[in-house]
Amino acid sequence: MPRPRRPLIAGNWKMNGLLSDGVTLAGELVALMKGRLNPAFDMVVCPPFTVIADVGKAIAGSGIALGAQDCHAAEKGAHTGDISAVMLADLGCRFVIVGHSERRTNHGETDAIVKAKAEAVVSRRLTAIVCIGETEAERDAGNTLDVVKAQLAGSLPGKASAANVVVAYEPVWAIGTGRTPSDDEVQEVHALIRARLADALGAEEAARLRVLYGGSMKPDNAHALLALPDVDGGLIGGASLKSRDFWAIAESCL
Ligand code: 13P
Repeated sequence: MPRPRRPLIAGNWKMNGLLSDGVTLAGELVALMKGRLNPAFDMVVCPPFTVIADVGKAIAGSGIALGAQDCHAAEKGAHTGDISAVMLADLGCRFVIVGHSERRTNHGETDAIVKAKAEAVVSRRLTAIVCIGETEAERDAGNTLDVVKAQLAGSLPGKASAANVVVAYEPVWAIGTGRTPSDDEVQEVHALIRARLADALGAEEAARLRVLYGGSMKPDNAHALLALPDVDGGLIGGASLKSRDFWAIAESCL
């Protein structure tokens, strides 16, 4: 049966790589993409801000999209050190990750802040990759579904649609640890997210909106995760820094 949604394979490079590293990695991905007729997936890379412009030049025309890892909710102004969605659009970004757990934890980002950022992203006609996910303590306490529901409701932008939002479910305890929930646990959360999206946006829109899994996705577990009915791609950290691993994950989409 064909997939209901075209998978999105998203690389979150986090705070890794100098200019030459980013351009080299981008060039390797472009070469792999060039050798591939009719890929079964969309691909986006989200480099650190310092490298976005040059990676954008390296991937131009390749079919690989450009993204960023965060933005400020405002368009411009006195926000030292911040970057706006307008600026990212100006560099050619099409996607912006908002609400990653590392932002929520390290920078105190609340659902309300994440929602404001997501609204800034969609107002620039970019796509927000809205991240949600429980901590290990929340899972151990049996609160995973409640936490995910609340984060989703609080973080989605007002005018969310399948065209401007991608949801990424990233259990915090799975990020960078080599641990993942079981396939059944992942599917349970993704099905809940889709049911909640249907309540909020209507069944048709929810059926089109992509929900990614993130957290220790690697070449050896990607196939099983990407085969789950409500998993529409991956948000990949560590393995996105190696072109072969990132590509192998992408090629796991059937
Ligand atoms: P890892 O793939 O390194 O676990 O990171 C996942 C992540 O946080 C992507 O945003």
